[in-house]
Amino acid sequence: MSARIVLPDDAALTEAAERLRGGELVAFPTETVYGLGANALDAAAVANIYAAKGRPATNPIIVHVASVEQAKALTKNWPSLADELAAAHWPGPLTLVLEKADGIPDIVTAGGTTVGIRIPNHPVALELLRRAGVPIAAPSANRSEEVSPTQARHVADSLGEFVDDLLILDGGPCEVGIESAVLDITCDPPRLLRHGMVSRQDLTVLLPQIIAGPIEESIARSPGQMWRHYAPQKTLVVLLSGALTKLQPGDIYLTHYQSAQSTAWNKIQVVALPNSADEYAQVLYSALRDADQSSANRIVIDWPEGTDPEWAAIRDRLRRAATPVSSER
Ligand code: TXA
Ligand code: MG
Repeated sequence: MSARIVLPDDAALTEAAERLRGGELVAFPTETVYGLGANALDAAAVANIYAAKGRPATNPIIVHVASVEQAKALTKNWPSLADELAAAHWPGPLTLVLEKADGIPDIVTAGGTTVGIRIPNHPVALELLRRAGVPIAAPSANRSEEVSPTQARHVADSLGEFVDDLLILDGGPCEVGIESAVLDITCDPPRLLRHGMVSRQDLTVLLPQIIAGPIEESIARSPGQMWRHYAPQKTLVVLLSGALTKLQPGDIYLTHYQSAQSTAWNKIQVVALPNSADEYAQVLYSALRDADQSSANRIVIDWPEGTDPEWAAIRDRLRRAATPVSSER
């Protein structure tokens, strides 16, 4: 078992496309996080994604496409709303849940009648899709429940032991940094199943009556919405309103507060996080992974109270990553 990280030059893209068509897995960058891809029309190849990730068979996988035409071909019913949302947000970090076409293997949708689809906004992902000529099923390229990878080396760290001879296309650090928003438009009103950097407010331009998850029913509809997702291995403590007295010697403290960044702490490593939602999202997973690799006993992070709508997606991920789930949050 080993992984090979390569720059996405012509030869590497050709090899990656050939591998996908031949039923193998390939890891590739998107603007959100790195994906672990397989030909979405090849059930055996998609089964290898579940095995490599240790992913529950009940959790459906997003299908990536290069064009709206290709997306339509994967669905039974393409409402005009899908055209409007695609025009406004594709390529980009918005996944649309639609009624699936019969040709999509059940394993992609975890046996369900709907499929999540998006056009990623990343030149390497788009070129790979074009060369492969098939839709690419791809969850985040990490073991199930781990923090998603935003750099090629994160993929190698997560999956190197679990996929034989994995090819990883290195597109540098992901620009968005957290996973796409997932919007189910098969129900009325549409439901936001996962927050993302396309915010609820952005979507209400086209959808004034959108209903946000996660509520009980939407958890069942989008099983990736379980607690304890996206979590580091160390205990992650979230500090509400700067409750600094909870800090302990041996902690690594991730903070976006400038006053805390310039304080001299005793036996506490401090990592500065940015103050704007976009920049914070971009570096969050990488900071969590680095903190997890550090010698610290616990990871402590401030709960961001920012009012820009994009912070909702960040708070959502922190809620899921925090341990233990019922306390200290
Ligand atoms: O940004 C992203 O979405 C990244 C990149 C690689 O595109 N992918 C990603 O995939 O985050 P994954 O598998 O880690 O998360 C997919 C989420 C899960 O919460 C899953 O339950 C939900 O999308 N999902 C996929 N298909 C669905 C469907 N048909 N109905 C409801 N939820 C679905
Ligand atoms: Mg994931």
